[in-house]
Amino acid sequence: MPSFALSDQEITSIMAWVTSQEGAGTAAAATGGVTAGNKDAVDGKDAADGGGAGAGKYADVLLIVLVVVLIVLVVTLVIIANLMKDVLRGRKDLDGRDVEILEQRYDWANLYKSTALRGIVGTVVALALLYAGVQSVMAVGLTQGYQPTQPIAFSHKLHAGENNINCAYCHTSVYKAKSANIPSANICMNCHSQIKTESPEIKKIYRAIERKQPVQWVRIHNLPDLAYFNHSQHTQVGGIQCQTCHGPIQNMEVVYQYSALTMGWCINCHRETPLNTKGNAYYDNLVKLHDKSNNAVPFTVSSNGGTECSKCHY
Ligand code: HEC
Ligand code: HEC
Ligand code: HEC
Ligand code: HEC
Ligand code: HEC
Repeated sequence: MPSFALSDQEITSIMAWVTSQEGAGTAAAATGGVTAGNKDAVDGKDAADGGGAGAGKYADVLLIVLVVVLIVLVVTLVIIANLMKDVLRGRKDLDGRDVEILEQRYDWANLYKSTALRGIVGTVVALALLYAGVQSVMAVGLTQGYQPTQPIAFSHKLHAGENNINCAYCHTSVYKAKSANIPSANICMNCHSQIKTESPEIKKIYRAIERKQPVQWVRIHNLPDLAYFNHSQHTQVGGIQCQTCHGPIQNMEVVYQYSALTMGWCINCHRETPLNTKGNAYYDNLVKLHDKSNNAVPFTVSSNGGTECSKCHY
């Protein structure tokens, strides 16, 4: 819980700021918003995200263009073939064989009877069923995509996206501790004692405080007790962005579980990710030792023991 022992002067300037911001949401966003220059470099993240979405859109457009081109091509070919047939039919010097070829129709019944085709279709269907079966068995116990309805319609898109509020403003311990922390109602009150106080959703926060009961948020991410995961190790020491593991939270109206959170997911990242050793004296000697023994291989989390069972299992 942050301490808010503010002087009268500080309170007056906060009030002045809040008044100046009312109805000026877009202006605030344009100038970098509340949290310009803070740890998460929100702008950079957004740009990276936009890039990813852009690439996805390009692929879609390309696919549509390809299909359209293919259809146009087939239609033109059919038209040309028919035109040529018409021209040929008009000619009188064709013999019996030529006419036979000209009037030939494709026999679809033969295709249907073909054992080769039946074999191919059968195999494809069997493989598709097998794939779907294996996928559904592998998904037992996974909750990827889980998106419960929350007791208050709290939107990350509005707060973390449009209003650029830093993640750590609410998830106060995410750079310092194992758990990221879910904000208590008094953090909401830092703003909502002034902003949108009449909204029915905000009234729910007031009611929780009056009753001295915490808001009962529904937990989304939840590793089994046998696994150990520490946020500060990843965000503060490893320098990994929240979005790498949690997806585009700043665009989510309602949060969902973006990653699978399987053991393979953890291990793969530990195998692939080079350690963030710069400016971290703890790693100086280890980097030297690593470079001496095999500097061809990058110094990843796993070369530092990040795939040993006991690192993640108590
Ligand atoms: C204004 C406060 C606020 C800000 C800013 C905020 N969050 Fe949240 N966050 C919450 C609240 C409240 C919940 C619980 C309700 C919910 O799931 O929507 C939550 C839930 C989450 C969850 C799901 C937790 C679970 O139950 O597993 C994740 C992940 C998360 N936030 C990530 C982020 C990230 C990343 C950012 C920054 C881009 C961020 N949050 C910014 C308040 C905030
Ligand atoms: C740093 C300031 C800040 C904090 C902290 C904050 N909010 Fe907000 N919240 C806003 C702003 C700004 C709006 C948009 C107000 C508007 O639309 O005029 C908003 C809007 C909302 C709305 C939509 C209200 C409506 O009816 O349109 C809800 C619900 C909400 N906040 C819930 C929460 C909850 C729950 C918390 C605590 C976990 C929280 N907020 C913390 C600034 C904040
Ligand atoms: C390396 C992946 C990774 C990164 C990076 C990461 N998280 Fe998480 N987060 C997780 C996992 C895994 C859990 C589930 C932890 C559990 O159940 O013990 C989780 C859970 C949470 C929760 C639910 C409460 C809790 O601590 O269990 C919140 C809130 C959250 N993360 C916010 C954030 C924010 C904000 C950031 C960025 C500052 C962030 N996370 C960065 C993997 C990550
Ligand atoms: C996006 C990549 C990524 C994912 C996903 C990830 N990690 Fe990590 N993990 C890292 C990095 C990078 C470090 C090294 C941080 C440092 O410099 O100490 C690390 C370090 C650790 C450490 C400390 C290792 C040591 O040598 O002391 C543990 C424990 C750990 N991770 C557990 C987990 C668990 C459990 C999960 C899955 C729930 C997970 N990690 C998912 C990137 C990841
Ligand atoms: C980087 C972290 C990490 C490392 C290293 C790791 N695990 Fe895991 N392990 C996890 C996580 C997270 C889960 C839970 C995933 C889930 O529920 O799907 C898990 C689940 C398991 C389970 C499954 C339990 C169950 O209920 O299904 C077993 C067994 C297990 N680990 C054994 C091992 C062994 C043996 C090693 C060493 C060879 C190892 N783990 C190394 C993170 C790790």
